[in-house]
Amino acid sequence: MDRPITALSMGMSADGKNSAGAAGDLGADREFPESSGVGEGPRQHQEIEQMRERSGAVSLRPMTAEMYHVYYREYRNDPDLYMDKSEYAPFVYSPEWVERYIQRQISKNRKCFAIMVGDEMAGEIILKNIEPGRCATLGICMKNDRYKNRGIGTRAEELVIDYVFQEMDIPVLWADTLVTNTRSRHVLEKLGFQLLRGEGDFLYYRITRGEMNRE
Ligand SMILES: CC(C)(COP(=O)(O)OP(=O)(O)OC[C@H]1O[C@@H](n2cnc3c(N)ncnc32)[C@H](O)[C@@H]1OP(=O)(O)O)[C@@H](O)C(=O)NCCC(=O)NCCS
Repeated sequence: MDRPITALSMGMSADGKNSAGAAGDLGADREFPESSGVGEGPRQHQEIEQMRERSGAVSLRPMTAEMYHVYYREYRNDPDLYMDKSEYAPFVYSPEWVERYIQRQISKNRKCFAIMVGDEMAGEIILKNIEPGRCATLGICMKNDRYKNRGIGTRAEELVIDYVFQEMDIPVLWADTLVTNTRSRHVLEKLGFQLLRGEGDFLYYRITRGEMNRE
């Protein structure tokens, strides 16, 4: 149950008592908190370089309730999650909010994973709208700016795609993103997601088993 996903074959599910089933509404919904810039002083720069070196060691671990509290204590909202930037507001950690969030993931039978770089939690990746044997929808968010643009999100998406297609036996994975979220779009397209349609502020992507690009 607690085995990390490091390559194609690791199984898991996050439906234990202490665990938050599966993915939240990463992507289309805005329950995501904010991004106050984490300063990048020399020491942090060094840490980032070390993290980059270790990014080959990205793995996915089933998220537990305890891990979610750690995650949200360090979470910073990202403006990319808002079409109207004036709606952007900093995220303020509250244990009650996190508990409600966890309960929602469990009640919706989602699968939630922590994106790990070594022993460090870098983000969250979730599978929602799971229809066994048919399809699921991907959601992803890095914990704060410190973990973005280091190749971690791309690797995490690769891992979860492999997991869905090979371990869950689901042949179709969807992802949605705001039209303005060019970074998210770039990563999806790089991995082989096809843009199927736009609706309002959102774009809907899909990848099917066998379509994943590998560089
Ligand atoms: C989107 C997200 C998950 C990507 O993860 P990440 O670890 O930052 O992404 P990576 O470092 O693996 O890759 C980023 C890629 O986007 C490119 N990129 C960076 N900023 C960009 C921008 N503004 N527009 C287009 N591409 C951009 C980078 O060059 C890199 O591409 P490359 O590897 O081809 O050079 C992460 O940035 C994030 O959590 N963003 C906020 C939440 C979010 O948008 N979630 C997705 C909602 S659907």
